[in-house]
Amino acid sequence: LDNGVARTPPMGWNSWNTFGCNISETLIKQMADSIVSSGLRDLGYQYVVVDDCWMNSTRDSAGNLQANASRFPSGMKALGDYLHNKGLKFGIYQAPLDKTCAQYFNSYPGATGAQGHEAQDARQFAAWGVDYLKYDWCSPTGTIDDQVRTFAKMRDALAATGRPIVYSINSNSIHDKTGPRRDWGDIANMWRTTEDITNKWDTGQTNGYPMGIQNIVNVTVPLASYARPGAFNDPDMMEVGRGGMNDTEMRSHMALWAIMASPLILGNDVRNMDSATQTILKNQNLIAINQDSLAQQGRQISNDSTRRVLAKRLANGDVAVALFNQGGGTTTVSTTAAAVGLSGGSFTLRDAWTNATSTSTGAISASVPAHGTVVYRVSGGAGPSPTPTPTPTPSVTPTP
Ligand code: DGJ
Repeated sequence: LDNGVARTPPMGWNSWNTFGCNISETLIKQMADSIVSSGLRDLGYQYVVVDDCWMNSTRDSAGNLQANASRFPSGMKALGDYLHNKGLKFGIYQAPLDKTCAQYFNSYPGATGAQGHEAQDARQFAAWGVDYLKYDWCSPTGTIDDQVRTFAKMRDALAATGRPIVYSINSNSIHDKTGPRRDWGDIANMWRTTEDITNKWDTGQTNGYPMGIQNIVNVTVPLASYARPGAFNDPDMMEVGRGGMNDTEMRSHMALWAIMASPLILGNDVRNMDSATQTILKNQNLIAINQDSLAQQGRQISNDSTRRVLAKRLANGDVAVALFNQGGGTTTVSTTAAAVGLSGGSFTLRDAWTNATSTSTGAISASVPAHGTVVYRVSGGAGPSPTPTPTPTPSVTPTP
């Protein structure tokens, strides 16, 4: 979506994966403080997104949304101000139909979805200083055309406020796999590709509920051509640092989200991060690959069901190559410079995890542990391939 924001994948934190409905302004402020003190903000993690359950179960007499008064007593404008004063950005959640997902499941009462209130809610969010809206389709019914119309309505309502707001949509909640069927880049800045992620490597799902890391990768890799500045496939909030995977799997999760140009929205409790979690989330080589200005998603070069190779072209002509071992034992994963689109006779490979560099005449190969991913930033060859020049806009001959 060309609305001026999310030219590279949004980075930040969201309350849902760890806290669900147990959120409050105190908790969100603590997270914000930790995002700053841990150094995550300065690495680019800037959107703090308050997910479902922030609102009261009814609108006020003028039809305005209201914050839950016991958990957000200072109100959402004050929370937005707090985040902005910390150099962070403010994200909020709403649903397009009559109920949010938590309301749908009756774990949280009320019916305060945006249906019929789109313009009013968009103006309210803008007035609160919202920088990012997560808009979550919570209904088993509705055709893809209904979804397109409904998501577009809020896109237009946000645009009408004049405030730049990242628009993040989820067409999948309680709904039969509508995400991967469409390039949503004309509607939103990011769109979920699957049902909810869970804190596991593999749930065996092909595109159902809940999805593990391997399962989400399987669905999201084929959608690579949809990604571009302002428009990204969203394989969901991250599970790094939540204890459901070993360190190799957590490193793979980060590496694959980076190379897939996925939004890096953390889902862990950033107040308590062990050193492995911090090292993974703060990997500057991977963050740079993810945030590269070409904003391309890594394309699949090969996949024999055990060994999978993805390559992401970067703005300076380098190529980031992920050597991913999907199998249960250590194996060698290989490709070549030619296969990832580089020509020439001599290359430098920088390992994103160790920073070690090596030279190669074309082979790109590593021994990779089970569920591991080695990432090389490959440069050299015939010199960096030129950055593509944007297609010139045809000049318009003024009509007399
Ligand atoms: C379903 C979404 O996929 C989750 O990320 C979260 O937003 C919940 N809904 C909230 O109810």
